[in-house]
Amino acid sequence: MCGIAGYIGLRQASPLLLEALRRLEYRGYDSVGMAIQHDNCVEIRKGPGKVAAVDSECHFAEMPGTLGISHTRWSTHGGPSQRNAHPFFDASKRFAVVHNGIIENYLELKELLRRDGVVFSSDTDSEVIVHLTSQNFKGDLLEAVRSVVKHLQGAYAFCVINNVDREIIVARNGSPLVIGIGQGENFIGSDVSAFVEHTKKVMYLDDFSLARITKDNVQVSDFAGNPLPLQVKTIDWDLEQAQKQGYKHFMLKEIFEQPQVAQDSLKQAVSITVRPARIIIVACGTASYAGYVGKYLIEKLADVPVINEIASEFRYQEPPLSKDDLVVAISQSGETADTLAAVRLAKKHGVKTLGLINVVDSTIAREVDQVIYTRAGPEIGVASTKAFMSQLVTLYKVAYSLADRTFDPQQLVSLITKVLEMQPQVKEIAQKYYHHPHFLYIGRNRNFPLALEGALKLKEISYIHAEAYAAGELKHGPIALVSDEMPTVALCPQDQVYAKTISNIEEIKARQGRIISIATEGDERIKSVSDDVLYVPKVDDILYPFMLVVPLQLLAYHIADLKGCDIDKPRNLAKSVTVE
Ligand code: G6P
Repeated sequence: MCGIAGYIGLRQASPLLLEALRRLEYRGYDSVGMAIQHDNCVEIRKGPGKVAAVDSECHFAEMPGTLGISHTRWSTHGGPSQRNAHPFFDASKRFAVVHNGIIENYLELKELLRRDGVVFSSDTDSEVIVHLTSQNFKGDLLEAVRSVVKHLQGAYAFCVINNVDREIIVARNGSPLVIGIGQGENFIGSDVSAFVEHTKKVMYLDDFSLARITKDNVQVSDFAGNPLPLQVKTIDWDLEQAQKQGYKHFMLKEIFEQPQVAQDSLKQAVSITVRPARIIIVACGTASYAGYVGKYLIEKLADVPVINEIASEFRYQEPPLSKDDLVVAISQSGETADTLAAVRLAKKHGVKTLGLINVVDSTIAREVDQVIYTRAGPEIGVASTKAFMSQLVTLYKVAYSLADRTFDPQQLVSLITKVLEMQPQVKEIAQKYYHHPHFLYIGRNRNFPLALEGALKLKEISYIHAEAYAAGELKHGPIALVSDEMPTVALCPQDQVYAKTISNIEEIKARQGRIISIATEGDERIKSVSDDVLYVPKVDDILYPFMLVVPLQLLAYHIADLKGCDIDKPRNLAKSVTVE
């Protein structure tokens, strides 16, 4: 998390860096700051809050200078405050640093620096970098940073500038960093959205490398000082893709992009040539729920056993892995630290890895043995929607490929368009229920992961407590929660577990629970056990997850909107979690 950006060239840096911060804000938004070099000085302005609020205090764009770095923060060490906002100065105020990641040995380093008389101005782990740079500076900033990285443990991408040299030094180990190559100017960002309207020529920095960036030149080397080749790529994103296009929120725009996303993901070539003995799916958050749907499908269609593992758990277990297994990592960003660690663990055991990844050339995409891009396009809303849809489509393609069949669902795209038309009914239901403090979500079989995803969406953006259960598990505890205060969202399409789910709904009804069912068009019976029903089109049993996810997303969205929540930037969250 945290977004970092940099600019060096002939233009004024601060307006460009301010725009970059707005784009990177999804990565973290509890404090913001900028450092600009001008007249042999470095000026820093920073403060707690979101970009717009801090800018109205700091007036970033008034800072003169053509070289600078900036940062938007998601706190890890030290709460969101003025003193903990990046950038940080050393004591002489000649050096400034912005950092994304975690320096794990910072306490030890702080202690050593304190013994040398260094006084710290923040509670962060990041500040050690700037003091170490200042201590190690003997005339060449790059060499100083090369010495600094030898002391650092943990994950980082950081940028350092000083008051005189016309250069920005960057270092990467474990957190994303990309350099944009312009004409007579160069850019730095945690991702390409920081500068995509200025250049499409980009260079992804690898782990354990450093770069010296001037306005006309980029030199990359490894930590030992060996020069590395420049690998410049041309990207095919445009800025419009990353803007709201008239929707009130990015999340809503992204929900409505799902027919197109499904179509793009369907076009992706998927071929799994070797049939593994077992599949282990590793992922976090929404991506892990897509993975659970994948388990039901792969086991049913291809008869390959699947284990779902939350990446943060998997990485610290000692899983019995065998060379015939396949580890499948699912990630929108391709940068999630735990998922990346799970991939590395699998590789260490000699197990083949497959990545289902959205962001092209992201770290996980580059590290897995085989990557299939999910093709959701840039997802900006922190709550994942269209990325989940693309992960589902891709998992279906993987399952079919393992079964030696082709996934070619007629009309899937038009059916998704059709479910989106139910928005007005969803809005009415949201209006009726949004004041409830607790919700229960239930589903069976491959609808159960959808219940998990529906509850997660509601929690993330409306801050309402929501629990999801496999419907058959209700009677083993959670039914004690049921009252007319806690409505249940029941996923009950007419599939092979329909009758069983109806029984579970009856059990809730008998205890005065209120039921919002998501059911199949034409199902009259469901009305007698529900307070409200949302109908989705009738499809093949196996395709219901595609139908159910849309009303779940819309319900969470409209409830959060009625509550006046900051939907695209929910509190305490970040889109890309590059720390453990
Ligand atoms: C964060 C995001 C979630 C996302 C999860 C995994 O928690 O807020 O929306 O599902 O990370 O992210 P990934 O990029 O690996 O899919």
